[in-house]
Amino acid sequence: MSAALPFRLDGRRALITGSSRGIGLALAAALASSGAHVVLNARDTGRLESAALAMRSAGHTVAAVAFDVTNEVSVTTGFAAIEADHGPIDILVNNTGIHRRAPLVDMTLADWNAVLETNLTSAFLAGRSAARGMIARRAGKIINICSLMSDLARPTTGNYAAAKGGLRMLTRAMCAEWAHHNIQVNGLAPGYILTDLTAPLAADPKFNDWVKTRTPAARWGTPDDLAGACVFLASSASDFVNGQILVIDGGLSAVV
Ligand SMILES: NC(=O)c1ccc[n+]([C@@H]2O[C@H](COP(=O)([O-])OP(=O)(O)OC[C@H]3O[C@@H](n4cnc5c(N)ncnc54)[C@H](OP(=O)(O)O)[C@@H]3O)[C@@H](O)[C@H]2O)c1
Repeated sequence: MSAALPFRLDGRRALITGSSRGIGLALAAALASSGAHVVLNARDTGRLESAALAMRSAGHTVAAVAFDVTNEVSVTTGFAAIEADHGPIDILVNNTGIHRRAPLVDMTLADWNAVLETNLTSAFLAGRSAARGMIARRAGKIINICSLMSDLARPTTGNYAAAKGGLRMLTRAMCAEWAHHNIQVNGLAPGYILTDLTAPLAADPKFNDWVKTRTPAARWGTPDDLAGACVFLASSASDFVNGQILVIDGGLSAVV
């Protein structure tokens, strides 16, 4: 990699979990625009193929492999299929996430488990599979999509905040074990970003007003607001950055 072009990703393969829409799809497009061969992932094959088609129409090199990142066997076979068909994964973005909102006293164990499995266990499973190859090759980048709620909580988000706080610490644990193998593991922590996940919040006038008032930038973020930081963390520009969480929230967490 030329020092003059530290952000280029030519020749690298990137897997972005949960990338058929929203933040994952925007990050996939950003990595592809910087030269990476991108592998999209989600469960719904129809939506996944549409996303891949749209990216190909935009001139990107892209594959799509559907599997559920919460299932250990699916992750193992999914990684084996990707590496057999496309080659080793150099960059992994652990992006899948869901919400199941309820006050803790009313929360079902099923909703607790679903959020923990999708937002935290998935990163352990995919990270473990990716790291085995990265350790052997002595190179790799892992980017965990954390959240404002990796550090801050709100009522009705106990499962989500617990999972995202855990993901922040998993990022540091991965750094502790894998940094000496020349693997950089970092997190991106978005604030309020307009996607399908947050559409119900944006449709609530009171919540929408709160986000715009509470965010110093006075607006919702867009998935593209995360693109540059993701490319930075995937590229050789960040080769000595490890175990860090980069917050992208329009200033929300900096101001009371
Ligand atoms: N939007 C925000 O304001 C915000 C803020 C902070 C952090 N984040 C985090 O950013 C990430 C992306 O959020 P988003 O807003 O872009 O969400 P989104 O629009 O709901 O997209 C989620 C993606 O994940 C996939 N997915 C869900 N469960 C999966 C599973 N078990 N296996 C494989 N794929 C799965 C979905 O496709 P299928 O349903 O077809 O599987 C979809 O492609 C999440 O981790 C979220 O917590 C978002």
